[in-house]
This record gives sequence, structure tokens and C-alpha cells, in this order.
Amino acid sequence: MKKLWGGRFTKTAEEWVDEFGASISFDQELVLEDLDGSLAHVKMLSKSGIITEEDAALIVKGLQSLKEKATNNQLEFSVKLEDIHLNLESQLTDMIGPVGGKLHTGRSRNDQVATDMHLYLRKQSETIIALVEEMQTALLTQAKNHVETIMPGYTHLQRAQPISFAHHLMAYFWMLERDKERFTEGIKRINVSPLGAGALAGTTFPIDRELTAELLGFSGIYENSLDAVSDRDFILEFLSASSILMMHLSRLGEEVILWSSQEFRFIELDDAFSTGSSIMPQKKNPDMAELIRGKTGRVYGNLMGLLTVLKGLPLAYNKDMQEDKEGMFDTVKTVTGSLKIFAGMIETMKVNSSQMESATKNDFSNATELADYLSEKGIPFRESHEIVGQLVLTCVKKHVFLADLTLEEFKDAHPLFEDDIYEVLNPVTAVKRRNSAGGTGFEQIRIALEKAEGKLKAR
Ligand code: ARG
Repeated sequence: MKKLWGGRFTKTAEEWVDEFGASISFDQELVLEDLDGSLAHVKMLSKSGIITEEDAALIVKGLQSLKEKATNNQLEFSVKLEDIHLNLESQLTDMIGPVGGKLHTGRSRNDQVATDMHLYLRKQSETIIALVEEMQTALLTQAKNHVETIMPGYTHLQRAQPISFAHHLMAYFWMLERDKERFTEGIKRINVSPLGAGALAGTTFPIDRELTAELLGFSGIYENSLDAVSDRDFILEFLSASSILMMHLSRLGEEVILWSSQEFRFIELDDAFSTGSSIMPQKKNPDMAELIRGKTGRVYGNLMGLLTVLKGLPLAYNKDMQEDKEGMFDTVKTVTGSLKIFAGMIETMKVNSSQMESATKNDFSNATELADYLSEKGIPFRESHEIVGQLVLTCVKKHVFLADLTLEEFKDAHPLFEDDIYEVLNPVTAVKRRNSAGGTGFEQIRIALEKAEGKLKAR
């Protein structure tokens, strides 16, 4: 088959060489973006008087019928035609005749592919933002049901201080809120048009770049034609926002895995998001959470991969840049899939409130309450810390917990202890009293839930 760029060649490459260089197996994902870019380009060509209105009308009709076929999955692509751009151009010409060849006037595949990628990532970023919100909604709904469900809060994975389960869930809500901001911010730089940069230097034709940008809904154009076709920062930013998002999902995944273990039994995942074992009949495994934790590595890899592809490239386009696509498609698929799974997993999980609460009782996570108690009565905190530390040691030796000590024992440690300390030691009281801004106190959580709801409504 004669190449669309075959004019200066006397020999054709062997099939396996063609196959190695081809991107059609994956860049067919860009079919609709490519057709939209072409539609905008051809409309501009005719408006600027570069091709006649009649020719443009024929091309537009051809492109629209290709679009219809693409939507119905009726297009067939050939490796011999290398990539999505050449495949579509060839099908257009097959359909409407040699006039189809006028479409590529004043354009190169270099600005064409860049345009496709910008259009693609704009759409995908918007989808991801909507999916992040679905997951935020799932977190918010569970949180609302569990304001007064208390659990141990951890540092170093050691019980630290009791907290509300809602507070724990809402920590992830705010992480996701920042993720959303990162994707939204990214769209600013995605939404810029490289179309009309040509191969690298612009074109001799009197094209109107502002017009194609407007037709494609871009908010502006790249200022420099070399930069326009060489820039992949917008993909790196997307991969980086995706990596941070996946890191958040992975951390929550890890907690979900721990919480559903027999050692914790804080939650039970719905059967729909768990799997069994082929040998151990009793098993119910949190596979989906594990898989999301695992897939996070892939997304990081995609970011590192593209950074590495780009680091040594001279301006402008180099074929290396064809390697920007698979990692990006893979990331989109992984991130959207993970968000959907996670929203469902959070929505349907059963929370074992009594198990959580009892985990706050038989430990020393109320020791800080006791130290705060003395300090509220004027003892310097360092001194209170020391006194309570000694009391903890006494308890450890006697195999009891703080609330098991008698008032005499407390008074021996410090005369300022009164019998109201037993109420102070109650983990529910401990949570309730942490009413500083952003703290786990029930009042603060209610304020936070309202703010969070406002964030979701604002969009
Ligand atoms: N398939 C190519 C890519 O994805 C399209 C651009 C090709 N440009 C070129 N000058 N070979 O990067």
C-alpha cells in the first residue's frame, strides 16, 4: 500500500517494521477527537478562503459520516496506515475522492495529534472530576450516619486518641477536594489550542488559529508554534494529579483492608466488592481495595515513564512522543475504574460501630484527657504529662486501665484529681470535648459536614 507520505520513497518498509512504528492499535481511542479537530480545521480553511466552500462542504459531510460510523463502532483501521490521522484521512478520500486531500492544507500530524490529546484530556478530566464527586458523596453519606460512632485514632498504627468515624472518613473527603482542584487547575492548561502550529513553524496559508480554537471550545492558543507541538506538560500534570489521587485511594484502600480484617472487624465490605478463595471456604477478601492499592504503582509508572521519554528530546516533534499515549490511556482507565469501585465500596460497606467503640475502651488512648485535666487546673502540661505517664505505668504493672483506678489512687498521684475524672476518661467525652476548629468534636464535625455539602453543591 502506498503511504500517504510516500512521495520521496523508493522502497517500502517490511510489514513488521511498519507494525513497530504504528500507533493505530492504541491511538484509535482518539477517533472522535481527531474528527472534531478536522471539522474545525476545514471550516476555518473555507472561512479564510483557503479552500472553496463547495470543497469544504464535501469534506464536512464526509467527516460527519465518519463520525457517525465511529460512534457506532463501524470503522475499521489498518496498521498499514500507521495511525488514527492517516487512517481517517484515507477513509475520507475513499469516500469523497481526491478533494479529501485538501483537508490537510496548512496542518501537520504534529499539531493534529497535539490537538487530539488536548481535546481528549479535557473530556477525561471532566469525567474524573465528576467521579471524584461521586466518591465524595459516598464518604459524606457514611460520615453523616456515623458522627457519634467513635473509634481509636492512630499514630504509628498505635492507638492514639479516640475520634469520630465521620471525622476519619471526612479526612478523605478533603483530600479528594484537593484532587478535584488539581484536575480543575490542569484543565486551564489543557484547554489551549496547538492547532495551526503546523509541523513546527506555522504555515504560509492565511489560517485563523483563533477561529479553530473557538470552534473547539479552547480558551486560547499556544503563543509559540514550536512549543505548541513539543509540549506534553499538560499530560504530565494530568498524570501527576492522577498519581496523587491514586495515592489517596491507595491509603484508604489500605485502611479498608485493615478494618475488614478479623483483627479489627471495624467494617464489612459488601459481597459485591469482595471475593472468595478457591481453597479456603471461610475467606472473604477485600480484593478491590488491594487492586486499587496495586494499580497505584502503575499510575506512578506512567508518570515516570513520560517524564523520562521527554527529558532528552530536542525541539520540536520527535517520534518518541508517540509514547505519550498508552500510559495516558491506561491512567484514565485506571483512575476512572478505581473511583467507581471505591464509591460503591464506601456506599455499601457495613460499619461495625460497637466493635469500633469497644476498641476505644481497653487501652490508654484516654491518657491525654487526664493530662489535659490537670493542665486545665493550672499544672504545666509537661508536669501533667509526667504524672499521667506514671499512672499509666502503675496500670500496666497492675494489668488494669486508667478508669479502673480508684479516686484515692488518682489523688495519690495528684491532689487536684476529683471524681469527675471518670467522666473525662470516657472516650465519648474525649471526642466530644475536642472542639477546636477542624477537630473531631461532634460540633466541629457537624460544621465540617455542612461545609462539605456546600462544596459539592457549589459545582
Ligand atoms: N502517531 C504520531 C504520534 O502519535 C502522530 C504524529 C506523527 N508525526 C510525525 N511527524 N511522524 O505521535
